[in-house]
Amino acid sequence: MSVPGHPTQTHTGVREILEGLAKQAGISLSGAKIRRSSSRFCLGVEHGDYNGTELFGVGTDRFIWMAFRPNGTNRLRLFSGNFPKDGLIDVALDEIPEPGSAPDSWCRFPLGVAWQLKRSGFALTQGMDAVLYGDIPGGGMSRSASLTLNLLISLAEVNSINLAPDNNEMRIVDLAQAVENDYIGSPCGNLDQIMILFAREGMGTHYNPANRSIRHVPLGEGAVDFRIISLDTGTMRPGLEKSTYKIRHAECREMVGLCHQPFGINTLGEVRTEELYRSILAKFIASHPHLCDRLTYIYHAQQRFAQMLDAWTKGDVATVGSIFRADGISLRDDYQISGKELETMCDIVRTIPGVLGERMLGGGDKGASGALILPEAEEALRKAVATAYTRSHPDFADSYAVHSCRMVDGITLLPGWE
Ligand code: GLA
Repeated sequence: MSVPGHPTQTHTGVREILEGLAKQAGISLSGAKIRRSSSRFCLGVEHGDYNGTELFGVGTDRFIWMAFRPNGTNRLRLFSGNFPKDGLIDVALDEIPEPGSAPDSWCRFPLGVAWQLKRSGFALTQGMDAVLYGDIPGGGMSRSASLTLNLLISLAEVNSINLAPDNNEMRIVDLAQAVENDYIGSPCGNLDQIMILFAREGMGTHYNPANRSIRHVPLGEGAVDFRIISLDTGTMRPGLEKSTYKIRHAECREMVGLCHQPFGINTLGEVRTEELYRSILAKFIASHPHLCDRLTYIYHAQQRFAQMLDAWTKGDVATVGSIFRADGISLRDDYQISGKELETMCDIVRTIPGVLGERMLGGGDKGASGALILPEAEEALRKAVATAYTRSHPDFADSYAVHSCRMVDGITLLPGWE
């Protein structure tokens, strides 16, 4: 966890952590660089990526740091300070296991990255030594996408591979998503990769799937100071492939299948007019009420998205917050992707003056909720959560955490060692 006074708050502190890990793993950092990858906070449309909607989000200052260097051999040698018990991952680049046969640990990510690069026709001849450390809470802030992007960009760099010819950085997004979909087995969409790869300090990233374009949108001038809060419930979220996420994904596809012929749509995101929405409901509400609920969330969240973007551009943080709250209520009641601990967090912080909006984050079931708040509400929020969350969920009294985040760049190269 990153808190004031914690070593990850300073560059020297991070370097010291990485140096300690390198010593522990018997890895040299001579000539190594540090690549830092952020977490992300989505402001809309949550669960829109696999439904074809526009997306908007920011990079947040919980990170993964990786010190890495080419090692002159054909081996990948990596050590994670978050999973020290897994020891040193040491594998030859020509012996990368096929999907499904890698050990069930974090090593699936570097193995998956190497596998995906080779599968895409890139020659991997240069091995890499690396040590990693991260303070991104699990479930909701895209730890896995941050790790995948960091490994992918760094392994490509030591092998002099240009991942984005013609400056088409969406190719990097696609490669990172393929690692998770095809090697890890997670059915994730591309929201997390987009929001981390393109994140810029003080800006939101707006993605339009119609032409796969990225636009950076500064927060409007005169916006009040605010904080982005992550409310980590302390629960462990299993992979998306083992959670409600997979069911919702399948339900949305089923609804598209039902609507395709009579209404001519290919994604739920294409339902943009009240007339079309009402016609679909009229046809399916009796036979498929739960699928209509999923559509109801996507339909209204898309309408709110336009208002949210407008409010962001004008610096109207209060409206951004109230839309965040409305999304959360519909994610809870219509999309039904939240979880009891996530909702306890929301119910607690919703009572506090200066909390502008709150909802579950990311994949769902477990993990973290989030809130947008005025700075003066932070102390009351921390106190309320400390009292009420631990009373409601004593099992997580020692593992929950409140993180107050800032908007930051997504991928950054930091000074390393001579
Ligand atoms: C997870 C997935 C993303 C996205 C979000 C929900 O974070 O990895 O692709 O679907 O859930 O918005």
